Amino acid sequence: MSRQATAVQETDLEGGVAPELGGADLEHAQRARPIPRISIQAFCEDENSAEVLQEAAEDRRLSKTHVSIHMGGIGAAIAHYQENPTPNLIIIESSLERSDMIVQLDHLSEFCDAGTRVVVIGHANDVLLYRELLKRGVSEYLVAPITPLMLMESLSNLYNSPDAEPVGSVIAFIGAKGGVGSSTICHNIAWSLSEQIKTNVIIADLDLAFGTTGLDFNQDPVQGIADALQSPERLDEMLLDRLLTKCTERLSIFAAPVVLDRDFDISGDACDVVIDVVRQHVPFVAIDLPHTWSPWVKRVLLQADEIVITAAPDLANLRNAKNLMDLIKASRNHDRAPRLVINMAGMPKRTEISVKEFAAALGVEPLQVIEFDCENFGQASNNGQMIEEFSAKAKAAPQLRDLALTLANRKDARAEKKEKPQSGGFLQKLKLKR
Ligand SMILES: Nc1ncnc2c1ncn2[C@@H]1O[C@H](COP(=O)(O)OP(=O)(O)O)[C@@H](O)[C@H]1O
Ligand SMILES: [Mg+2]
Repeated sequence: MSRQATAVQETDLEGGVAPELGGADLEHAQRARPIPRISIQAFCEDENSAEVLQEAAEDRRLSKTHVSIHMGGIGAAIAHYQENPTPNLIIIESSLERSDMIVQLDHLSEFCDAGTRVVVIGHANDVLLYRELLKRGVSEYLVAPITPLMLMESLSNLYNSPDAEPVGSVIAFIGAKGGVGSSTICHNIAWSLSEQIKTNVIIADLDLAFGTTGLDFNQDPVQGIADALQSPERLDEMLLDRLLTKCTERLSIFAAPVVLDRDFDISGDACDVVIDVVRQHVPFVAIDLPHTWSPWVKRVLLQADEIVITAAPDLANLRNAKNLMDLIKASRNHDRAPRLVINMAGMPKRTEISVKEFAAALGVEPLQVIEFDCENFGQASNNGQMIEEFSAKAKAAPQLRDLALTLANRKDARAEKKEKPQSGGFLQKLKLKR
């Protein structure tokens, strides 16, 4: 390993970086969607469950909710709601046996406002109890020990109706430095997703002053994302339709204004609202972030479902990518690590850090290593075309296709077909909980 790469690795390796998600956790993570702005009050019996709830409460998926956690189980809940109004959701942990639990829950229900939902965490894998609880209007019964991701998945199922289209997946793209091709990769992946999976995709260009989405798709939009960010509360389906620019049948862009004479004061709150509205309308939202660091960029990154960091193989990129990776991993315990794409590899006459060293320093294997290819990238960009449109023979074309499928979790289409839909059956639910 080169001296420089070793230096970066050694200085930065300590620090609480979350372990990689795998297996069942990863499946829960993929199914757990953001939960709307609701109030949740929990009454636990066991410290472990309270910790799990606390961990879930700190996750990005619950960032809009208001959670308070109390001890004392069902008894404490009854005492509390005799005096206080009930929130949107009550989570009750109870190790009581079946008939006692039902008597207590019936008592609790006398103090519940209409519209309050109840989720019970129990300690017995008991079908009869489960049926009794559902009959009484309990929304879900989870068997302890639970994990934060299990809990988030089941809350997400409660609040994202199974009949409605699930909310769209947000993929945020950022470069470890400016000019490393992050926007190019974002646009190609978004386009490829829309073509390969035949699904609707919106690219949101948050590089308000210098964004290239319009150029890359040969469009010259008059209106776009700045109008939405300035008055996010006005953004509804009709306005969104007006502000989007359609590039293909399935791909639209939310273009940046690309003017320098107006100051845009972007707030994290405005970004949240706009992205939330957009994700209600399409299965995939690709966010093209500028290479800057500000509270709103950080917020958009940390809230995204997937993050793609594009880096060129040199030392400054390595340092920045490592800093980004560490910060993101440490703040997202229940998400996959950001995806790393190394771009512009093999640029003539440039001193490079090898892919192996890069991966070792970051602790993440790159998903793809895309070569420097000024002929195809330069010409495609000049024509306002995607790489594959310009030349399907370009070496990067299949790599970009592959990236799109991986990010959409469609790499293994056969396995996906086999996966059963989530039915409401108890056995199915138990299986999901395991
Ligand atoms: N693999 C590559 N080989 C050659 N040129 C590339 C490659 N990837 C991107 N480019 C070019 O690099 C320039 C900067 O890309 P851009 O996507 O705007 O970077 P960023 O968004 O990271 O600032 C563009 O002209 C683009 O066409
Ligand atoms: Mg860019």
